[in-house]
Amino acid sequence: MPPVFAAPCDFTISVCVIDQVSFDDWLKSQPPHVVRWVETNGFKGSIGQMLLVPGAEGSAPVLALVGYGTAAQRLRQRFALAAGASKLPQGTYKLAETAGDNAIPQDMLAQECFGWLMTAYSFDRYKEAKGAGAALVAPEGIDATAVESLVAAECLTRDLINTPAADMGPEQLQAAAEGLAQEFGATTEVTLDDDLLTQNLPMIHAVGRAAEARPRLIDMRWGDKGPKLTLVGKGVCFDTGGLNLKPGSSMGLMKKDMGGSATVLGLARMIMAAGLPVQLRVLIPAVENAVAGNAFRPGDILTSRKGLTVEINNTDAEGRLVLADALALAEEDNPDLLISMATLTGAARVAVGPDLAPFYAGSDSDAAAITSGAAEMADPVWRMPFHDPYEAMIEPGIADLDNAPSGGFAGSITAALFLRRFAGDARYMHFDIYGWTPSAAPARPKGGVGQGARAIFAALPELLNL
Ligand code: BES
Ligand code: ZN
Ligand code: ZN
Repeated sequence: MPPVFAAPCDFTISVCVIDQVSFDDWLKSQPPHVVRWVETNGFKGSIGQMLLVPGAEGSAPVLALVGYGTAAQRLRQRFALAAGASKLPQGTYKLAETAGDNAIPQDMLAQECFGWLMTAYSFDRYKEAKGAGAALVAPEGIDATAVESLVAAECLTRDLINTPAADMGPEQLQAAAEGLAQEFGATTEVTLDDDLLTQNLPMIHAVGRAAEARPRLIDMRWGDKGPKLTLVGKGVCFDTGGLNLKPGSSMGLMKKDMGGSATVLGLARMIMAAGLPVQLRVLIPAVENAVAGNAFRPGDILTSRKGLTVEINNTDAEGRLVLADALALAEEDNPDLLISMATLTGAARVAVGPDLAPFYAGSDSDAAAITSGAAEMADPVWRMPFHDPYEAMIEPGIADLDNAPSGGFAGSITAALFLRRFAGDARYMHFDIYGWTPSAAPARPKGGVGQGARAIFAALPELLNL
């Protein structure tokens, strides 16, 4: 079960969140036994510091201190509250309400509470869960249900990414989408295997046909009024690279190549839980990019749903192929906004690293809405350009498009331009995410992670005039 806020109990411990700048003043206002204890233990209010303070006669702690650092430190680290809260022993805690005893600015409170709740996340499908940690009573002034729904969505995304390909193939990804749909009264339709050919989704079939697990397109719909929002997520459940086989070092993490679909499912969960007045559609081409005698080959030319032909110059550039057919299908329905999310290129990771979600938007105002949603939600993004002069790079000699331009210049941009061809006239945004935390940080253990979904969710009212 995803973490939720706790109900207050008789043993609720107050947490003072102290920033380093006001630490000295705060200490002066404390009784002598607290001053001595704080000084002896070297607590100064740095990020990640935590100190339990015993009662006057050495009785059980009635107070816990958590450092909130300086503004400069908080620029370097998200979820500063979680850094200290994760060190608290099991128990029920509430944030001090008096100004001076709680350094968290009001507009940061919800994202810091999200971070605290996420400290309880661990991927425990294959080994015993870590014990219950520090539970937090929802503070005044935040929408506790809304924060819990962000937490549940993020836990869903992480669990899906963390599950190895043997247990999270196209079939299980479909089951996950169906489970979510059932929870919120959405409908799902699935186009399976050879039906992909009769339904004119040939590139999804071509990429997925070599795997034992059959390729499919998952199509989920929810809501019957309001603007049409369509999300497309890359669901490559494992990416071996195909005949252009990845070296072992690059293949190791490729269970996460369905990170885009895991993230759009998380976003769909937020939207449905909030009951947003939109007509939501989620399209997930779910395949495994495998090696077998019937695999698609370098040099093959595929004809896409849209009719554009694509020369395969590298079978490892498979994500854009399956997304292309899904985007073409999406556009036929004239959505008001079309967004794709995908672990699409290694180039994106090289450009911005694992912490930022690079995204492409045709419109400056749409991009600005995403950027401010990102700040509100502590879900950092970075806008990249749909640079028209690079269109020539994706046009080879003997087909309309090239799936893997040689040279590799601007690899994330050329992949985005490729996808844009299939989004047609739709108002379109694309996120080239990494979907993985390589080394643990507060509220983000090593492993799968959602990127960009909360930023988009926060921007939706502005993007769609809700
Ligand atoms: N799934 C990978 C992209 C990827 C790799 C994302 C590592 C995150 C981390 C994708 O299918 C791929 O292999 N892309 C190739 C494209 C190239 C052959 C044009 C890449 O980025 O190297
Ligand atoms: Zn690949
Ligand atoms: Zn891939």
